[in-house]
Amino acid sequence: MNRLLAFAILIPLTAGTAALAQSGGAQPAKTKKAAAPAAAPVAYVGSEVCGTCHEDVAKDFARNPHHDVETGDKHGGPNWTGKACESCHGPGGKHVESLSAADIRNPLKLTAAQVTSTCLTCHLNRPTQVGRIESAHAHNSVACTSCHSVHAHGPNGLVARKPAEVNALCAGCHTDVMARFQLPFKHKVTENAMTCVDCHNPHGGVKPGQMQMASANEPGCMKCHGDKRGPFTFEHAAVREEGCNGCHEPHGSSNAKMLVRQEVRLVCLECHANLPQPQPNATARVTGVVPPAFHDLTSARYRNCTVCHQKIHGSHVDRNLLR
Ligand code: HEC
Ligand code: HEC
Ligand code: HEC
Ligand code: HEC
Ligand code: HEC
Ligand code: HEC
Ligand code: HEC
Ligand code: HEC
Ligand code: HEC
Ligand code: HEC
Repeated sequence: MNRLLAFAILIPLTAGTAALAQSGGAQPAKTKKAAAPAAAPVAYVGSEVCGTCHEDVAKDFARNPHHDVETGDKHGGPNWTGKACESCHGPGGKHVESLSAADIRNPLKLTAAQVTSTCLTCHLNRPTQVGRIESAHAHNSVACTSCHSVHAHGPNGLVARKPAEVNALCAGCHTDVMARFQLPFKHKVTENAMTCVDCHNPHGGVKPGQMQMASANEPGCMKCHGDKRGPFTFEHAAVREEGCNGCHEPHGSSNAKMLVRQEVRLVCLECHANLPQPQPNATARVTGVVPPAFHDLTSARYRNCTVCHQKIHGSHVDRNLLR
């Protein structure tokens, strides 16, 4: 880039800067965080000026969904028509004069919280961002820009959408979780038949573990396992009380059916144990019902509980979940 040429272009343009600076004064208070010292006037120059030097970025930006901010088709927040660049980079007045990197806000050099609040001036409370500030990512300094590359330099562009891209993105940090999908009984995530985002909302959520929801307020598992959805005439209280992960490892397990224990009966006996009645002042509590005496656990016949209790997730006809 030719700096002299750039200045030549700038001379007529800076004449308009004062007017823009005035309208710029009405911009939200977030500009306090800009790299410029507090004493400098808040001067906006408009995207066209940025484009005179950052030609490539400006050219690519025409295809960026954020171009809607520039044209005023959609703001999603305060009105930044003609000043889209500065909606994220802050006022550029000082930078276009000094040409110094220190005088312009570069999101990559900000703290995660500063980036997040920049993005949330527009993206707050959109349907998929509900609870974002409360997410484990926000609490652990994972900024929007850890997953989204605004100028699409990253391998995934602005948004990772292909299953393989999403899983690779998440696996980049959650290697331990990805390892569980290598176990023999698991959801097909390593095959990219399914993604982390089928179950988790990367932006946060109201349920623990940032779980996705199905039909507004059911566990996201129901999106695919609708047959486990009630209402059952005879529900198994465990499903409601503990949720699916009371008995299943959602990521993967070395136990068949992704159970939390090696054998079905060990899962059941955690709650339906033939334990002595708790003492009146005991803190331990037997949650379920103790199986009737004819359940002879020394006999192999009674070991696989679900051979008889087939409707383990709930039954429409039998209170003992037998059919
Ligand atoms: C007159 C030319 C010129 C104009 C106009 C200009 N820039 Fe720059 N910009 C530069 C130069 C030169 C650098 C490189 C500075 C360096 O590396 O020291 C730069 C660097 C940057 C950086 C990187 C900062 C960093 O931390 O590495 C950003 C972001 C940026 N400009 C945004 C903008 C925006 C937004 C506008 C419009 C408001 C704008 N620029 C207008 C010349 C310009
Ligand atoms: C939606 C927010 C947003 C908008 C709008 C935006 N940028 Fe950026 N810009 C970023 C972020 C975030 C980075 C850090 C790198 C990345 O994530 O791609 C960045 C980095 C840069 C850089 C330095 C790194 C590089 O790519 O060389 C320049 C220069 C830049 N932007 C210029 C512009 C210009 C010019 C415009 C307007 C045409 C603009 N930006 C609009 C968010 C934005
Ligand atoms: C000035 C308002 C504004 C700011 C600031 C802003 N965005 Fe956006 N963003 C939009 C608009 C408008 C769209 C396009 C339409 C929509 O999704 O409503 C959009 C779209 C997106 C999309 C979705 C693109 C798609 O293909 O669906 C992502 C991802 C995104 N922005 C990330 C960011 C990130 C990361 C930041 C902070 C670095 C940021 N945005 C800052 C207004 C903004
Ligand atoms: C942990 C990674 C991660 C973080 C952090 C993250 N996102 Fe996303 N975001 C994604 C993924 C993955 C998608 C694609 C979701 C899908 O396809 O369902 C997405 C989608 C989006 C979309 C498009 C709308 C949609 O849901 O399809 C917008 C807008 C967006 N993110 C904005 C943001 C903003 C703003 C922040 C910061 C406040 C942020 N994201 C933080 C991973 C992330
Ligand atoms: C830049 C690193 C990074 C990326 C990329 C990332 N995460 Fe995270 N994630 C974290 C950190 C750090 C935590 C908090 C510590 C922890 O629980 O491991 C976290 C926590 C979580 C949690 C636990 C939430 C809770 O409340 O316990 C879930 C679920 C999650 N991430 C899902 C995802 C998904 C899905 C993706 C891909 C779209 C993703 N993460 C991408 C770093 C990342
Ligand atoms: C079949 C649904 C499902 C899929 C697919 C899935 N998860 Fe989970 N994940 C869960 C459930 C359920 C929990 C437990 C949530 C709770 O705390 O109640 C969980 C918990 C987590 C946690 C926090 C506790 C822990 O076990 O470490 C992280 C982090 C996490 N998942 C990341 C991921 C990542 C990364 C992927 C993709 C590689 C992924 N998950 C795919 C259902 C899923
Ligand atoms: C996006 C769809 C989808 C979601 C969401 C989903 N599953 Fe699955 N699940 C499947 C598919 C498909 C299979 C069969 C996998 C195979 O063939 O290897 C499966 C298999 C299973 C199995 C093992 C079945 C067997 O025969 O071994 C269990 C247990 C299970 N899922 C529980 C859950 C739980 C618990 C959740 C919520 C945390 C959940 N699933 C969310 C699609 C899903
Ligand atoms: C009380 C423990 C328990 C709870 C809670 C539970 N499951 Fe199961 N689930 C089992 C057992 C045991 C099996 C194996 C049945 C067998 O061996 O025939 C199973 C099997 C499955 C299977 C594979 C076989 C089939 O019937 O399709 C899926 C899928 C499944 N469960 C999904 C879920 C979902 C989704 C939830 C949450 C709504 C859930 N489970 C909650 C104990 C439980
Ligand atoms: C997390 C604890 C828990 C686990 C694990 C569990 N259950 Fe239950 N189960 C309960 C509770 C609580 C009830 C309801 C008892 C009541 O209504 O008084 C119940 C009820 C039942 C009933 C019906 C009895 C009735 O009167 O409603 C049967 C049959 C049953 N469970 C079998 C099983 C089997 C078989 C397994 C193993 C696959 C199992 N349970 C795993 C907690 C559990
Ligand atoms: C051979 C078939 C069979 C097997 C195997 C079996 N049960 Fe049962 N179970 C029954 C029948 C039949 C009843 C109903 C008894 C009745 O109507 O009084 C029952 C009732 C129950 C009840 C309800 C008790 C009540 O008072 O309401 C529980 C809890 C239970 N079984 C748990 C288990 C557990 C845990 C296992 C595995 C260790 C298991 N069952 C294995 C046949 C079986």
